[in-house]
Amino acid sequence: MTAQLRADGTLRHLLTLEGLSRKDITLLLDRAQQFVRPIGARAPTSRALEGVTVANLFTEPSTRTRVSFELAAGRLGARVVNLEVQLSSRVKGESMLDTIFTLEALHVDVFVIRDAEAGVPALVAAHVAPHVSVLSAGEGSVAHPTQGLLDALTIRQRKRRFDGLVVAIVGDIRHSRVARSACHALATLGVAELRLVAPPALLPGADELGGCTRHTDIEAGLAGADVVMMLRIQRERMLDEAQLDGAAYFESFGLTPGRLRLAKPDAIVLHPQPMNRGVEIASEVADGPQSAIRDQVRNGVAVRMAVLATVARAGAEGGSA
Ligand code: NCD
Repeated sequence: MTAQLRADGTLRHLLTLEGLSRKDITLLLDRAQQFVRPIGARAPTSRALEGVTVANLFTEPSTRTRVSFELAAGRLGARVVNLEVQLSSRVKGESMLDTIFTLEALHVDVFVIRDAEAGVPALVAAHVAPHVSVLSAGEGSVAHPTQGLLDALTIRQRKRRFDGLVVAIVGDIRHSRVARSACHALATLGVAELRLVAPPALLPGADELGGCTRHTDIEAGLAGADVVMMLRIQRERMLDEAQLDGAAYFESFGLTPGRLRLAKPDAIVLHPQPMNRGVEIASEVADGPQSAIRDQVRNGVAVRMAVLATVARAGAEGGSA
């Protein structure tokens, strides 16, 4: 595993939340909170990353994550280049690393990478020059660290604590990098109980996420929860498309207003999006008073600003809003 921290303990890369300390995660959340403004207010800006160049390399579809990384870098004064996969030389046979070295020669300081293949962010991180940072924007089913941070930040804003909380993660956990990063963050931050709630075929392997409890019955999984995180069925990562009838899934595992009443009355609902309304979540819930889904999107930019400001090299320091 490529080290994420520099010798002095500061964050250089962000590839996974696994192994980061509670202090490291809390510092990132505190820094992100400084960049949060109410929806409708003017976005915060600073010149902390003036002179820094950030390259977004996304080889999988993305709306929120790519746009929010781009906005985050821009609001800190960095220059951003977006490489679409069709434009990158990867498809012409050039290896990923040759693309990276080319961009490094063009003075890219931070690579933001989303790829379907496990191991790509760490591979790049192992080969870049010492002043360059790599941020994962989603790695296969393995990790999505900035999503885990924005989920934790949203929970902290709404619940004001982590201790004592019961968090139910519901849906296609087996294929979800979002669930894995959320579990790593929330376990480290000290929630009382992390429940993985899914049909047996969508639970992760028994050797994974050991500290979590597992439920194959959604009613039992939701009972008394403080936080309900819904996940999309990730068809693109499934080898076997057999059990994919959306209506039948909604019947047995969709979050309806009736099922949400099994959670605590003040429970919040999270979803990383994209949502499939009428499959994993009912529109009444997605748009209802307990939904914190729009807060998650807003917090995504703040978290990415905090991470960029934290990793960007000395001389570009400053980061406050
Ligand atoms: C997620 C992803 O790409 O992992 N989306 C996101 O980044 N907000 C979740 C998903 O695709 O289901």
